[in-house]
Amino acid sequence: MGWAIPFNKPYLAGNELHYVAEAIARGNASCDGDFTAACSRILEERFGIGRALMTTSCTSALEIAALLCGFEDGDEVILPSFTFVSTACAFARAGARPVFVDVRPDTLNLDEARVAEAMNDRTRAIVPVHYAGVGCEMGALRSLADEAGALIVEDAAQGVNATHQGRYLGAIGQLAAYSFHETKNYACGQGGALCINDPALVDRAEVLRERGTDRSRFMRGEVEQYTWVDLGSAYAQSELLCAYLLAQLEKLEDIAARRARIAGWYREQLAPLADRGLVTLPHDPAEDGAEPASRTNHHLFYLLLEDLETRGALERSLADRGIQAVRHYIPLHQSEAGRDLGRFGPLPVSEDVSARILRLPMFNELTESEVVQVARGVAEHFRVPAAA
Ligand SMILES: Cc1ncc(COP(=O)(O)O)c(C=O)c1O
Repeated sequence: MGWAIPFNKPYLAGNELHYVAEAIARGNASCDGDFTAACSRILEERFGIGRALMTTSCTSALEIAALLCGFEDGDEVILPSFTFVSTACAFARAGARPVFVDVRPDTLNLDEARVAEAMNDRTRAIVPVHYAGVGCEMGALRSLADEAGALIVEDAAQGVNATHQGRYLGAIGQLAAYSFHETKNYACGQGGALCINDPALVDRAEVLRERGTDRSRFMRGEVEQYTWVDLGSAYAQSELLCAYLLAQLEKLEDIAARRARIAGWYREQLAPLADRGLVTLPHDPAEDGAEPASRTNHHLFYLLLEDLETRGALERSLADRGIQAVRHYIPLHQSEAGRDLGRFGPLPVSEDVSARILRLPMFNELTESEVVQVARGVAEHFRVPAAA
């Protein structure tokens, strides 16, 4: 179906095609050329990340992170059930048992009180997912992890250029993973980065990313020839995709401002519905009053509806108007693999939210009149006057 207003549209910030052509002209279209280095540098310098390695996806960054945890039989990893598959799959592949924990009803992020209850002497890592670009309660999670000698691996797929109490998401845990998939704020079709904030983990991460070889050392002239040293894979992002991505990372603030404007339009337009309790709007951490303040990157704009039926009816009603609104996630503890591989207790918030959430169109070029059209579609569905 051709949508009048799709859920997502790929975006060009300006220099993408020019940079891709230049990467080819420079004679290095594979990996770890100038464009890869430039992307890593921006992530490290802008966000305060120790070392940023560009990867083929956030999934592959999580896979490297999971291997770096060095799991042994019986080891466990704490993560939310309300998340994308890769958060759990990467750790299960590396031999850990995923322990699914419920999310907070306000931010839909890992509930630190439930994390404390789920931890035991087999806990090796906690994986906070910064849902919708809103940071998890990193202070509380860090204390729990430190006490247990566990690592923090941030799943910051949705958290690029957002902060938690003054620190950039991705720069807080020992390890973190970013996504530059087409649906993300900064994108190159498909891509990612592994953020390494513990220097002791850098050398092995380089090897795992380079097909299990010491090629990174060879490229720096530290060894004469490179060879197989560990169990890695082809996790390095293509130089062509880094060229594409660089054009977007150079426009970090422009893109951030666009998304903040779009979220502001949505909030203004949907306020009358929220005031009547018909919809709940995404949590804005800037309103928490914490110092230093936290900032969302407005990755998603979602509505929480009253129940499953209300969500389905609104989804159909928007589709009838050519507006693509989408749902997610089937909680992982209810998925086929999650049921088999995971450990979990009752997860009422994850199940409840999964049945009631609807994501509205959100992309960098969404216009004010399109936002008004979407909000009017929601208001008319509920037979409520839209904002003036
Ligand atoms: C929370 C979360 N983790 C991991 C991923 C996987 O990212 P990628 O598509 O870059 O592998 C996504 C993708 O949407 C995500 O939302």
